Amino acid sequence: MGALHRIDPAPAAATILQRPSALDPSAGDPVVQVRGITKRYGGSVEALKDIDLDIPRGKLTTLLGPSGCGKTTLLKIIAGLLEPSSGEVRVNGREVTGPGPERAFVFQDFALMPWATVLRNAAFGLELRGVPRREREDIGRHYIREVGLAGFEERYPHELSGGMRQRVGLARALAVKAEVLLLDEPFSAVDEQTRRKFQEDLLRLVAQEKKTFLFVTHSIEEAVYLSDGIVMLSRRPGRINRIIEPAIDRSGSPDEIRRDKHYLDTVEEIWHGLRDYVD
Ligand SMILES: Nc1ncnc2c1ncn2[C@@H]1O[C@H](COP(=O)(O)OP(=O)(O)O)[C@@H](O)[C@H]1O
Ligand SMILES: [Mg+2]
Repeated sequence: MGALHRIDPAPAAATILQRPSALDPSAGDPVVQVRGITKRYGGSVEALKDIDLDIPRGKLTTLLGPSGCGKTTLLKIIAGLLEPSSGEVRVNGREVTGPGPERAFVFQDFALMPWATVLRNAAFGLELRGVPRREREDIGRHYIREVGLAGFEERYPHELSGGMRQRVGLARALAVKAEVLLLDEPFSAVDEQTRRKFQEDLLRLVAQEKKTFLFVTHSIEEAVYLSDGIVMLSRRPGRINRIIEPAIDRSGSPDEIRRDKHYLDTVEEIWHGLRDYVD
C-alpha cells in the first residue's frame, strides 16, 4: 500500500494523531474532547455507544458512516443541542451543557429565515448577539463574499438554489466567529457540480479561516477529498470503527487530486473496511 497509512482498530480513547507542524503552536491540543458518549432515544433505540474522540484544532475532521449510525446525533451532542445518555463533551476543556458561541451548527436543511434577505440571514447570529447593524452587515457581506455569494445579498432564500442556501448557512456560521463549525451533510441536497465547487471552497476556507471543521458525510470520496482525519462509525449503535488520516497532497488541481494514486488507494481501503462490517 506504499504511502497509505496503516489502519488500526480504534484504541479505547481514540485520538486523531496530528502531523506536527512548526507553524501551528496549538497542534496537539484537541479543541473538542468526546468521552464515553452513549445515546439512547426513548430508552430503546441505542444510537451511539461509548464514543471517545479528540477533535484536533484547525483541521477538518469527518464523521463517516452508514445512514442511521448516529452521525447527526453525535454532531448535535457536540453542538449542545442534544443531551447524551451518558458521557461528556468538552470544548476547550469546558464541559458542554448547551449551545455556546464557540460552536456553530450548519443544519442539513439550511434553517434559513424565508422572510429575510441573504444578508440578514448571514448576519443573523450577530443580530442575536446585539452587534450593531452597520458592523454586522459589514461582517455579513464579508462572509457572503467568502462563500461565493457576492451579489446575492438582497435576495431571499426562495430565490436561491439548495447549494446557495447551504452557503448562506455556512456564511452565518463563519460570521459569528465560532471556532468549531459543525456541518451536517452540507452537500447532500445539491447536484454533483455544485457539490464539487462547494468542496473546493470549503478546502480554501479551512486553510484560510484556521477553524476546526467537523463534517458529516456518508460519501467516502468526499471524506477522503476533504479531510485531515476520518472517523469511521459502525452501523447502529454507532461506535468508532477506525480513524484514518488520509494525508492527501492537495497542492494540485481538484482533478489531479482525484486521480492521485494515494487518494484512490485511500478511497478503496475505506470501502473495503466498510464492507467488512456492512456485510
Ligand atoms: N428523535 C429521535 N427519536 C428516536 N430515534 C431517533 C431520533 N433521532 C434519531 N433517531 C434514531 O437514531 C439513529 C441515529 O440517527 P442519526 O443520528 O440521525 O443517524 P445518521 O445521521 O447517521 O443518519 C437512527 O436509527 C434514528 O432513527
Ligand atoms: Mg444524519
